[in-house]
Amino acid sequence: KILILDFGSQYTQLIARRIREANVYCELHSWDVSDDFIREFNPAGVILSGGPNSVYEDETPRAPQSVFELGVPVLGICYGMQTMAAQLGGSVENAAKREFGYAEIRAQGHSALLKDIQDKSNAEGHGLLDVWMSHGDKVTALPEGFKIIASNSSTPIAGMADESRRFYAVQFHPEVTHTKQGKALLNQFVHGICGCDQSWNMPDYVATAVQRIRDEVGSDEVILGLSGGVDSSVAAALIHRAIGDQLTCVFVDNGLLRLNEAEQVMETFAKNLGVKVIHVDASAKFLGDLAGVSDPEAKRKIIGREFVEVFQQESAKLAQAKWLAQGTIYPDVIESAGAKTKKAHTIKSHHNVGGLPDTLKLQLLEPLRELFKDEVRELGVALGLPHEMVYRHPFPGPGLGVRILGEVKREYADLLRRADHIFIEELRNTQDADGKSWYDKTSQAFAVFLPVKSVGVMGDGRTYDYVVALRAVVTTDFMTAHWAELPYDLLGKVSNRIINEVRGINRVVYDISGKPPATIEWE
Ligand code: XMP
Repeated sequence: KILILDFGSQYTQLIARRIREANVYCELHSWDVSDDFIREFNPAGVILSGGPNSVYEDETPRAPQSVFELGVPVLGICYGMQTMAAQLGGSVENAAKREFGYAEIRAQGHSALLKDIQDKSNAEGHGLLDVWMSHGDKVTALPEGFKIIASNSSTPIAGMADESRRFYAVQFHPEVTHTKQGKALLNQFVHGICGCDQSWNMPDYVATAVQRIRDEVGSDEVILGLSGGVDSSVAAALIHRAIGDQLTCVFVDNGLLRLNEAEQVMETFAKNLGVKVIHVDASAKFLGDLAGVSDPEAKRKIIGREFVEVFQQESAKLAQAKWLAQGTIYPDVIESAGAKTKKAHTIKSHHNVGGLPDTLKLQLLEPLRELFKDEVRELGVALGLPHEMVYRHPFPGPGLGVRILGEVKREYADLLRRADHIFIEELRNTQDADGKSWYDKTSQAFAVFLPVKSVGVMGDGRTYDYVVALRAVVTTDFMTAHWAELPYDLLGKVSNRIINEVRGINRVVYDISGKPPATIEWE
């Protein structure tokens, strides 16, 4: 396995994902872990990430010295290269101008890292690589024992290596897709140089994870809050595979779910997989408490509080349960670790069931803690969950509560559910020229209910009804997003269907705001 030390770059998670995609297990840890930790981790290789600091400033992060004494290969990327140079006796200086964006570099010196990796070659037969640069500092003198393995005119030392010690470093970012051969380079490092085999794969993982859960919980009982979202669904399927009826899921219908969602969850889990699911219809309670409340934050708080209350009531009935299972995934783990040590990671402002564990006095079972989202999906498929469920767009914890502007009423929720369903159905059924459905081409799409009435005409009559807004965005991280450029005829069809089929809505508009300055949800 590979150890990645995080110096705070925006791209560190991508390094981990690329290594996992190469079927090698890796973990991401802060740069300031102890030497003991590193020795115990026993990595086959270490990667030092990029980061926002300058090595020549006071008290900036350094790699633990043991990294260079383990005798395993080390790859430094950007800041990781600079700190490697500084720690091993080279020098780093501020570049006259920041280099940001695409650059072409020349591979030289035939290193094991760049062997056979090139986009094209120049007249002298040197390999040329299109890479992504993002740096203000650069290495200006090599440490002893190193040679240059890549360069261009603005960054003469764009890559360096000490092949006898198997230390490699590059100034560019192989982890981003803009560096075309980045994946090949990282593959070369973990397979060719570190000698890792391709043992990280889903079918093997299922068996390992199942065994681990059995060892951990023994004959104890486990409860899990099933939301119908990807993470809790996959966690439920995995734990059920491991311990069968020792698992009980609690599914809370808060009255703010999508059309037929409760039925689908019950069908998939209770009927098809044979999972024990307690279905709690708490919609009257949620909607009752929301009556008269129109402030978005107040609504969120009520929904969150209600959920904890209902879940606690239900779990109190399962007195013998010793474990609370949650669908925590690796990005959540990294994020909360980052939040603790104030590293550069951006912190999501939405968390769902944060308050549960303390009050319930249960041990936490988090079987997806080491998986990235795409790995969770792969696992879901391997466990036999329907593709549609596993590849569903994200849905916020407060559900339609934040998609009905202002006060939430059952009547509004019912109208919105039907409009939303039509929108999603048409997105699923309409393909773009590339053969992909518009549902798969967008990252998140939904309808929003606007409690304002406008005048329309239908047949010979005047109507005075509500408005629905359609929202569809394209994003990779949900921190920034573009509105989706849906085809006009698709938008037209959705609008026609909603107005004709959902009595009570006579106007449909499309949201063309990006994030920022708008957010994805309207509340
Ligand atoms: P915004 O609206 O902040 O949303 O651009 C970014 C992403 O987060 C989702 N979201 C939530 N998810 N609980 C959640 O689990 C919440 O309270 C919540 N609020 C927003 C939103 O759907 C989008 O994917």
